[in-house]
Amino acid sequence: MECFVTGGSGFVGLHLLAYLTARGHKAWVLMRNLSNLESLKVQVSSLGGNSGCIHGVKGDLSTPGLGLSDADQRNVSSAHVIFHLAAQFSWGLTMEEARAVNVEGALRVAKLAVVQQTRFLMVGGYMIKNDTHLAKVGIDTQHPEKTDWFKVYKRVGGYEGSKLEAHFVVTRYLEEQSADYAVVHPATVYGHSESGHILKGQPTEQLIRNLSSGKLKAIPGNSEHWLPLVSVDYLVALIMYLGFDSSAVRQQVLALNEATPSLLNLVKQISNYLGVRAPNRYIPKGLLRFFLTIPGMENRFATSRESLNFIQIERFDMSISKYFETRYELHHPDLRRTLEKTVKYVKNTLVDSSEHHFFSKTP
Ligand SMILES: NC(=O)c1ccc[n+]([C@@H]2O[C@H](COP(=O)([O-])OP(=O)(O)OC[C@H]3O[C@@H](n4cnc5c(N)ncnc54)[C@H](OP(=O)(O)O)[C@@H]3O)[C@@H](O)[C@H]2O)c1
Repeated sequence: MECFVTGGSGFVGLHLLAYLTARGHKAWVLMRNLSNLESLKVQVSSLGGNSGCIHGVKGDLSTPGLGLSDADQRNVSSAHVIFHLAAQFSWGLTMEEARAVNVEGALRVAKLAVVQQTRFLMVGGYMIKNDTHLAKVGIDTQHPEKTDWFKVYKRVGGYEGSKLEAHFVVTRYLEEQSADYAVVHPATVYGHSESGHILKGQPTEQLIRNLSSGKLKAIPGNSEHWLPLVSVDYLVALIMYLGFDSSAVRQQVLALNEATPSLLNLVKQISNYLGVRAPNRYIPKGLLRFFLTIPGMENRFATSRESLNFIQIERFDMSISKYFETRYELHHPDLRRTLEKTVKYVKNTLVDSSEHHFFSKTP
């Protein structure tokens, strides 16, 4: 199959490219900077992919028509599936910055899929399935067009606000066009179950780092709070299967491991693998959020207020995910083992010499 992939140089995108190309699929990859193509191929090969199946296409989500040349428009028109993963994924984005890529850019990719009549697989985020949270932040799920998005962005920050808005804007457009699409909503992604591979800057990597450096002094929330996780290999397998499954039209599927422990137990497990003492007291999320408004505190504790929303008490209806897991014979890898590999990968690969003292207690 031929595919068009956005976000191929990101954490999930690299693994998706490795997974697709290892199975012989050809991928056109949208890249802001084509001079990074060789390095992308090297990374995909190191993750088990076939770099010979990868072809770069210059473009940018924030540019009209994605900035594709005529030749590249013809190239990507041969794709059977468009996998849309690209996003501005960082804390502290303004509403304008986040919207330009995550909402308007996502809509541009959806429009391309409709014009080309290509199947469209979009990657969202699991918070869209937390109805309590959506109501709390002011999203009217029955009439999303009535939502005051300015207020939502102010409450949850640029990244999450734009991912939520993109969901409603893009799915409404796709529904109006009777398009052939499916959406995968990942929980927070952690490492590969075999190699532990994860990229620097990913939320799970930052959590591991914060624990190792002693910056995480207390657990946000209480004993009911959790940070649902999904391994990157389970996630990309689900994305690929759903992308190619013509029966999965208009499905929205959560990629989330229900066996993720409470945040306290997760933190204990990571600390144990790091050989550091785990924080064992709680701090109410509201109090922590207030504390982090004090200038300099977010930096000092390497924690963004925006990240706190993802730590929550909601449990999710996993029936649709279970249906597709059975259909594709897909299983979550063992969580403890994968977490241990992820911690080892961060410790051995991503930490530079100036940070090694944080890891000196490691067994
Ligand atoms: N990782 C998680 O825990 C998690 C959880 C839930 C949902 N998600 C969603 O999963 C998707 C993939 O996440 P990720 O962790 O792989 O993200 P990531 O590592 O931050 O990668 C983001 C990708 O988007 C590309 N990109 C950013 N702005 C662009 C633009 N203007 N035009 C074209 N490409 C652009 C980046 O390309 P460059 O190389 O040019 O920067 C990069 O390839 C995102 O939609 C994210 O919202 C992730």
